Amino acid sequence: MSGGANKPVLIVDGKRLDGRAFGQLREIKIEAEPLKNAAGSAYIEWGNNKILAAVYGPKEALPKHVSDPEKAIIKCRYQMAPFSGLEDHGRTGPNRRSTEISKVIKEAFENVIMLDRFPGSEIDIFIEVLQSDGGTRAAGLTVAAVALATSGIPMIDLPYAVSAGKIGDQIVLDLNKIEDNYSDSDVPISISPRQDKVLLLQMDGTMTQAEINQAIDMARKAGEIISKKQRDALKVPYERIMERYNDVMPTRAPQAQQPPRPPQQTPQQ
Ligand code: CDP
Repeated sequence: MSGGANKPVLIVDGKRLDGRAFGQLREIKIEAEPLKNAAGSAYIEWGNNKILAAVYGPKEALPKHVSDPEKAIIKCRYQMAPFSGLEDHGRTGPNRRSTEISKVIKEAFENVIMLDRFPGSEIDIFIEVLQSDGGTRAAGLTVAAVALATSGIPMIDLPYAVSAGKIGDQIVLDLNKIEDNYSDSDVPISISPRQDKVLLLQMDGTMTQAEINQAIDMARKAGEIISKKQRDALKVPYERIMERYNDVMPTRAPQAQQPPRPPQQTPQQ
């Protein structure tokens, strides 16, 4: 989000620059389990964002002093590949932004993963942004939820995230990079749909309480589409497992043919 004299016009004739309506999402495609070595993985294309998520664990929490005898801890690393954006080529490694994003995503997942099932363990979530175009923390959280589900780690819900924002006095959904950079505010939101709880809400810029409520409502409505994409992606590996299962399981021996029963005589009174 930034202002300045060279601020581009973001809404022309009631449409956004990429032709979307105010409450419209970019196209989302999710693939479950693209990585074989991870306990769980998923890949998302969300508009021009391309993001991989991998999950490892639960495994012994190391170093020992970070472990919690009551429950598992989550380690989350969000990272942008040095070639992922139009800015900052060649820079890599953690920075303040990636540390912040890793922290808020980890805290969102602490609300849905059944951590008390794995005392003394750690669950590692890696989110690698290969190509970025605004909204990567929301897309990163959404794809990490699918990766966690493929790992079999028990969760009470499958959270999703999306950003909303304000351009002039208009609330818009799912800001791309140019909108994110020049909007009046940008609000990434994560929701746990079954619990109907907000797990993450950040705000860059200003909004009134009514505008924030409108943004949350928009995110909730978009959540129906995003959650369906997550669930549909998860069906694919489970269908593969069922096919393999059917291949290896011996088919049930056919029942021995019974001779046809004679027609029942009704006893004569
Ligand atoms: O990606 P998200 O909207 O969650 O985070 P942001 O900090 O608001 O960044 C908005 C966008 O700016 C990112 O999605 C990237 O496209 C771009 N960006 C970048 O290219 N290089 C950075 N170091 C930071 C942001």
